[in-house]
Order: sequence, then C-alpha cells, then structure tokens
Amino acid sequence: MKIVVIGGSGLIGSKLVAKLREHGHEAIAASPDTGVNTLTGQGLAEVLNGALVVVDVSNSPSWEDAAVLNFFETSTRNQLNYEAAAGVRHHVALSVVGTDRLSESGYFRAKIAQEKVIKESSIPYSIVHATQFFEFLKGLADISVEGGKVHLPPVLFQPMAADDVASGVARIAVGPPVNGIVEIAGPEQFRVDELVRRRLASLKDAREVIADPHARYAGAELAERTLLPGKNARFGETRFDIWLKKSAGVAAAPKGA
Ligand SMILES: NC(=O)c1ccc[n+]([C@@H]2O[C@H](COP(=O)([O-])OP(=O)(O)OC[C@H]3O[C@@H](n4cnc5c(N)ncnc54)[C@H](OP(=O)(O)O)[C@@H]3O)[C@@H](O)[C@H]2O)c1
Repeated sequence: MKIVVIGGSGLIGSKLVAKLREHGHEAIAASPDTGVNTLTGQGLAEVLNGALVVVDVSNSPSWEDAAVLNFFETSTRNQLNYEAAAGVRHHVALSVVGTDRLSESGYFRAKIAQEKVIKESSIPYSIVHATQFFEFLKGLADISVEGGKVHLPPVLFQPMAADDVASGVARIAVGPPVNGIVEIAGPEQFRVDELVRRRLASLKDAREVIADPHARYAGAELAERTLLPGKNARFGETRFDIWLKKSAGVAAAPKGA
C-alpha cells in the first residue's frame, strides 16, 4: 500500500517510514527537503498520486501563536484538498493527549484547529493522541526556563518512547479509519518535574528544576490529571528506565509539544 508520511524526516516520521517499509508498504517520506511543502502545496499533487493513506506527523517550525495556527490550519487544508483529488482513503494525524483541555496555549489552539479541519473534511480519518515523548523531556525543559531555572508543574503524565509512538501510529495507519480519536501512552505515570530532573541529570545538564504548581506547559496551566490519557488508551511497552539507559548522554531535541 502506498502511504505518504508528511513530516517523514522528523523524529516520529523517520521511525514511522522505516516501520511501514519493514511491513512491506511503499512508505514515502515527504517534507520540504524532498520537495513537498504542505504550507504552499508544492509537490503534494505529485507525491499523493496513487497513495491510499496519508499520515501527518509534521510540526510547525515556529511556535509563535499566529505562525503555528497558520501552519496547522493551512497545511492540513492543503493536504486534505489534494487528498480528495488523489482519491486518498485515510488521513491520519498525530496530536497530543489532552489537546482539547489545553486551549490556553497558542500551540494547542493550533492543534485543536488542525483537528477541526480534519473532522470537517470528507476524507475518512484517524486522529492519534499521544502523550509526551521521552525524547521531548529536554525540549520541555528548554521551553520552561525562567531566570535560568526550569519551572515545571508537579502534575502527573504518562510519557512514551518515540519508537512506541511510531509503532502505534503505524498500526492505526494500516487499519480502517476510526473517524475519531485513538489515545496512545506510555506504561508508567510520573510527575513532570521529577522526570525532567532525571533526564537532565542523565545529560549532565546542571539546570535546576523547580516544582512550581503555576508553571505553564507551552502557555497552559495544568491540573493534576490534564495530561493523562483515558481508560481506553493503548499502551507502549518501553519503560523509562530502559529507555534512559540507552539514551543517557544522547540529547535528542525534537521541536514537538
Ligand atoms: N513532542 C511530543 O512530546 C509530542 C507528543 C504528542 C504528539 N506530538 C506531535 O507529534 C508531531 C510530530 O512531532 P515530531 O517531534 O516528530 O516533529 P519534528 O521532529 O519536529 O518533525 C517535524 C517534521 O515536519 C516537517 N515539516 C516542517 N514544515 C513542513 C512543511 N511546510 N511541509 C512539510 N513538512 C514540514 C519537518 O521537515 P524538515 O525536516 O524539513 O524540517 C519534519 O519532517 C507534532 O505534530 C506534535 O504535535 C508531539
């Protein structure tokens, strides 16, 4: 089956393309580097020719409120318009667990807008809500610095390995459209400040992590359970300790939320 992965050069996209190919699919990585720009529409008609499924795991280069909103709205509309013309039968998009509860954040307002465009289109779809990636813990620290210290709320979350995100998205991409949301999550719950502290220690990053109940996540204040998945979530198997042993000292810095 021909499956186009928009954002195929990114953290999740590159893993997803590899997994789909391992399973015998014709997976095509699409991104500006391969001549596909979803914001302008450049290259979309050509790459979607003969595709049955499109998986959007792209992310906005800018997180500024207006820029990120424009990115997700415009690039999603462009994809869906070209998909309709090409006869694509399943649009899959990666979003974040709790997105609908995070509208105080400009980034999450953009993800809400992306999901609305998908739900209103005529293309059958599946929206995958994943929890925060282990690989994003350093990035989370980087966007949470105030006065040289990392301020994070001590709320619960259930993060997961990017590898498990890619496996979960791959399974959904090759199945029938659910025309709704599927949640995927890691196997264990942690406190956000605690896990970021452990990740920074493994990277020998000396920044202090302060547990601050009013610290914001991408601009949104969090309650104890805002980031947790519901009871029907599907769980990845990689435990944090095992991942950390493999990743100690390797600083992946994805831009995602
Ligand atoms: N980080 C988290 O914890 C988390 C949790 C749940 C869900 N998510 C979601 O996961 C998704 C993917 O995140 P990620 O960390 O894998 O992203 P990433 O590594 O930053 O990759 C982003 C991808 O988007 C591509 N891209 C950027 N602008 C584009 C354009 N105009 N046209 C086509 N492609 C474009 C990039 O291409 P270039 O290589 O050319 O830049 C890259 O391939 C995001 O939608 C995010 O909201 C993230």
